[in-house]
Amino acid sequence: PPLSEILNLHDFEAIARQVMPEKAWAYYSSAADDEITNRENHAAYHRIWFRPRVLRDVTTVDFSTYILGHPTTMPIYITATALGKLGHPDGELNLTKAAAKHGVIQMIPTLASCAFDEIVDASRPGQVQFYQLYVNKDRNITKRLVQHAEARGIKGLFITVDAPQLGRREKDMRMKFTDDEPDAQKGDAGVDRSQGAARAISSFIDPGLSWKDLDWFKSITKMPLILKGVQCWEDALEAYDRGLAGVVLSNHGGRQLDFARSGIEVLVEVTRELKAKRGLSFPNEQFQLFVDGGVRRATDVIKAIALGATAVGIGRPFLYAFSSYGYEGVDHALNILHDEFTMNMRLIGARNVKEIVPEMVDASNIGCH
Ligand code: FNR
Repeated sequence: PPLSEILNLHDFEAIARQVMPEKAWAYYSSAADDEITNRENHAAYHRIWFRPRVLRDVTTVDFSTYILGHPTTMPIYITATALGKLGHPDGELNLTKAAAKHGVIQMIPTLASCAFDEIVDASRPGQVQFYQLYVNKDRNITKRLVQHAEARGIKGLFITVDAPQLGRREKDMRMKFTDDEPDAQKGDAGVDRSQGAARAISSFIDPGLSWKDLDWFKSITKMPLILKGVQCWEDALEAYDRGLAGVVLSNHGGRQLDFARSGIEVLVEVTRELKAKRGLSFPNEQFQLFVDGGVRRATDVIKAIALGATAVGIGRPFLYAFSSYGYEGVDHALNILHDEFTMNMRLIGARNVKEIVPEMVDASNIGCH
């Protein structure tokens, strides 16, 4: 169908499922075990309701904001998803180009199909990009990646901490990774090709990574450090106490620990406990909270902002968009989000991101007590 018939982010998934190679669909769409967390990522947003304000002159609304001090036209970013060329020959470059046009930030994955430098080279002058790091057992490799990223102007280092071992994504595992595959930076470890794309490319990741390694990261880079994949307030507090720039409350799109809670649910306890224990209020410039997983509508994003997130990461919808329509698909997806933001900001009575306040949502049905 023509792009004009794609009305929302869900529509891309339905199209992608029909047009994508089976192996690519299996890798992108799969989640861990029984995929309960993957479903919960969507369901959790359904338990939060709005308390809109009226009569506020919402003729003009502005949903631009800052992420780690860098401007973005919307409170979202394109999160890191590996192996872009499985879905489209241009891979991650589809995202880079669309991010530039729309003034949003792209997080480049360690396991991108395109070479890191190719992705940075494709960015426009001044375009902000972040880097997602899988920490290699060989710290020299990690050091080289990190310092190269910084030298190329990357503005934030998101260290993935929820994947000491890759989750069991059975849909993906049923597809043997018979490799005509893009040359992702596979690391130097031996690659087991019998276990699906994910496991084949991830054997270099260090399960020995621990809190004490963070000082080393601080010693090798000046980029802000953010932990991607925090799932409880205790770890968020530890990250704050160790002087990190923030955390992404995420379960890796349901692809790691099944029965992990959704990021939006975790957000509620993190803001509560960091307020109680350290007097922090959110959103907070010094320690920023991000959420990802299951976000498909501007209303989802607005809920997360109301509850204290600085911005929200979106993954699969952009993969499905470029797998089906290339760059134009991602462009259209961002246009859809833009239109949804305009309308929903008006409907809740918020003229800018600062006016999206906790009182605008009823989150009494989520969070642990
Ligand atoms: C991911 N994600 C991910 N995260 C990460 O830190 N490193 C990675 O290499 C990848 N790769 C990856 C591939 C694919 C196909 C998916 C779907 C996801 C997780 C990603 O950054 C993010 O946490 C989730 O995708 C967010 O959920 P949604 O928006 O996809 O529902």
